[in-house]
Amino acid sequence: MPALVNIDGELLAPAEARVSVFDRGFLYGDSVYEVVRTYAGRPFELGAHLARLAHSAGRIGLRLPWDDRRVAAEVARTLEASRGGDLPDPVAAPWNRGERTVRIVMTRGSGDLGLDPSLAAAPTAIVIVHPLAGPPERAYRDGVAVHVVGVPRAAPTAADPSAKTGLHLPHVLAVREARLHGAEEALLTDGAGQVTEGASSNLFAVRGGRVVTPSLGAGILEGVTRGVVLRLARAQGLRVEETGLAAADLGRVDELFITSTVREILPVTRLDGAPVGSGSVGPVTRLLLAAFRTLTARP
Ligand code: PDD
Repeated sequence: MPALVNIDGELLAPAEARVSVFDRGFLYGDSVYEVVRTYAGRPFELGAHLARLAHSAGRIGLRLPWDDRRVAAEVARTLEASRGGDLPDPVAAPWNRGERTVRIVMTRGSGDLGLDPSLAAAPTAIVIVHPLAGPPERAYRDGVAVHVVGVPRAAPTAADPSAKTGLHLPHVLAVREARLHGAEEALLTDGAGQVTEGASSNLFAVRGGRVVTPSLGAGILEGVTRGVVLRLARAQGLRVEETGLAAADLGRVDELFITSTVREILPVTRLDGAPVGSGSVGPVTRLLLAAFRTLTARP
């Protein structure tokens, strides 16, 4: 039974896993969450994810029902119970086979209808363990296409972008637009023409040998993978710049890649229908990918 759900400590098959229609996560996106993945069956960077979960909860004044030890224990228990039974997936990248994603969702809970958060009785804790469906291996070899969304959808106006909350409609609409353009990921812009991040990823460019990524001040989520990649880049002796990235300049960069827990370091070789740099995965991206692979081969 590889997909398994834990609601408030109770393990349930996906079909039995239900929350109330009065849950504020469902009604208002009044929730925080994390997506963790395993390597060799063990959660990667769990400490960083738990720290961000606490940060997100703090930013929206949500009292987490479980402390870090309890979350880690429930994650381990749910992972353990989900072992085995994976269907063979011929397109999965070999390093992802048998691995899991773990979505940790904490909602403010259920209560009478109304926006006032004090209407919620008690928070709901959910852990969803699922076989990891990462990009196929060819995406790492050939790169993927991205689309810069036409409407500014960066989060600052709606919520704190540094908090990972259930408020996802801007991201959903951005991905919808990207798919209509045949792209894998949507790049979000703010009202001033700066690219901020992907709908569910952080963005990096390589320009004149430097690794460039929007700074935290640009209004982005502080990605756990972003942090790992910045560390790896510096350890490789690469020059790194956290700075603004104008959407209008993206067509002139040498390399582009996105990062996220599930997609790791994913090369981007097409931007709105045009090749990025040489049109194939560039040397700096390949260097970082190799370093990431080495790191995660022995977490
Ligand atoms: N999302 N930016 C946004 C808006 C995100 O939703 C995510 C990840 C990231 C990358 O963060 P990390 O490296 O910590 O995964 C950046 C998760 C994976 C998701 O929603 O599935």
